[in-house]
Amino acid sequence: MQPESARVAWHSSKVSKQSRQLSNGHRSCVLWFTGLSGSGKSTLAAELELALHELNYRSYMLDGDNLRLGLNRGLGFSQADRSENIRRMGETARLFVDAGFITLAAAISPYQADRELLRNRFGQGEFIEVYVRCTIEECERRDPKGLYRKARSGEIRQFTGISDPYETPVHPEIEINSEMLAVPESVSILLSYLRSQGYLPADRKAGE
Ligand code: ADX
Repeated sequence: MQPESARVAWHSSKVSKQSRQLSNGHRSCVLWFTGLSGSGKSTLAAELELALHELNYRSYMLDGDNLRLGLNRGLGFSQADRSENIRRMGETARLFVDAGFITLAAAISPYQADRELLRNRFGQGEFIEVYVRCTIEECERRDPKGLYRKARSGEIRQFTGISDPYETPVHPEIEINSEMLAVPESVSILLSYLRSQGYLPADRKAGE
């Protein structure tokens, strides 16, 4: 027998992604921030979301921690659960891209295979992998949530970088070294990328 999902067809909306992009005045895409816990993914995504919003562009952030409180509640940190977490986040990001948003997704997303699956769910140029590079030593020094300390003491198991793997991206579109760059510098690198690659129109100042 066919699985039930095989009998379900996608209904096209009468408002296309292209017409949404046209009325927004910019293309839509997802910037997928991957990196160790504490590397600065969420901080950077949140600052870019704000900068884009202040320029009157449509932006929306999907944060791994936040989604685990709702949509992804009940998923843990086994390889299978992380994969499912990333898959659901990716499908949510697809809807936001379809809705015309510049979507900022921040999750450790430690497995290369999951990131490749993600990329294949998006159209050409819609998926921008942003590797937030930071050494494990520096993440552990920052330890903003006190989780590295707990991981070292064994209170938390399967902790990325300590007792669970992080597979470094092979060909990310953008790499941000958060130990070398201040947040505003990183935001401006990302904005320049979006402009130079034609996602955003050439320069627009806040308030225009
Ligand atoms: S992912 O691996 O599935 O992409 P995600 O980004 O959603 O992870 O969630 C990571 C966050 O969960 C971390 O920033 C941290 O706050 C928390 N966390 C709790 N336990 C773990 C763990 N074992 N490994 C990594 N992060 C953990």
